[in-house]
Amino acid sequence: MFHLAPFHAHDADAVEALLDRAFGPNRLTKSSYAFRGGIEPVAGLRFVAHGAEGLVGTIACWPIAVGAAGTPALLLGPVGVEPGLQGKGIGAALIERTLTDAAALGHRLVLLVGDPVYYARFGFRSAAPHGIAVPGEPPGRLQYFELVPDALAGVAGTVMRSDAVAGTAVPGAGGCGAEAVLTRR
Ligand SMILES: CC(C)(COP(=O)(O)OP(=O)(O)OC[C@H]1O[C@@H](n2cnc3c(N)ncnc32)[C@H](O)[C@@H]1OP(=O)(O)O)[C@@H](O)C(=O)NCCC(=O)NCCS
Repeated sequence: MFHLAPFHAHDADAVEALLDRAFGPNRLTKSSYAFRGGIEPVAGLRFVAHGAEGLVGTIACWPIAVGAAGTPALLLGPVGVEPGLQGKGIGAALIERTLTDAAALGHRLVLLVGDPVYYARFGFRSAAPHGIAVPGEPPGRLQYFELVPDALAGVAGTVMRSDAVAGTAVPGAGGCGAEAVLTRR
């Protein structure tokens, strides 16, 4: 059994340690981190999973901008689960909660860099055929999810840091949903 909770500042050290265990010590060299350094994660979309073992899962989103128009979007991740507890639905619960709350907060479009085999189950689809690219990433790993119908329509180009585009802002700052208790497998 595990339960999800909004991230609190006192979770920070445990989250970093968990991400090191889940992704390995070189995780900060991944291309996705180029979009995160010096930028705060999106408010209301940062969750942790707690189990009997302590903090066992984490997820966050960062604001990004896409293409010449600088369309605001969310970069989902990193999502990480304690290696010994993977495959028990913790990752799915974190992702589903994030997508649900992102829609409720008024966000429109989510992108991520990850394994399409895993993310297809949540409705993510390949973004490369739509002309969207992340420098340094194989095109097949870039996935998108529309929180509102046709959010991707007319959006194409390179994914950029949100601070590369003046006036780019994502909606929904502030809110944190109530804790959810979930029981899986
Ligand atoms: C990827 C991750 C977050 C998934 O969380 P989880 O709690 O283990 O996953 P769930 O229990 O929700 O789902 C398990 C299912 O996902 C599949 N799965 C997990 N990681 C996968 C991957 N990288 N590629 C394809 N399928 C994957 C499992 O085989 C399992 O399949 P099944 O339901 O058919 O048995 C977790 O395994 C993890 O932290 N991995 C290391 C870090 C990482 O790669 N993060 C994602 C970066 S894009």
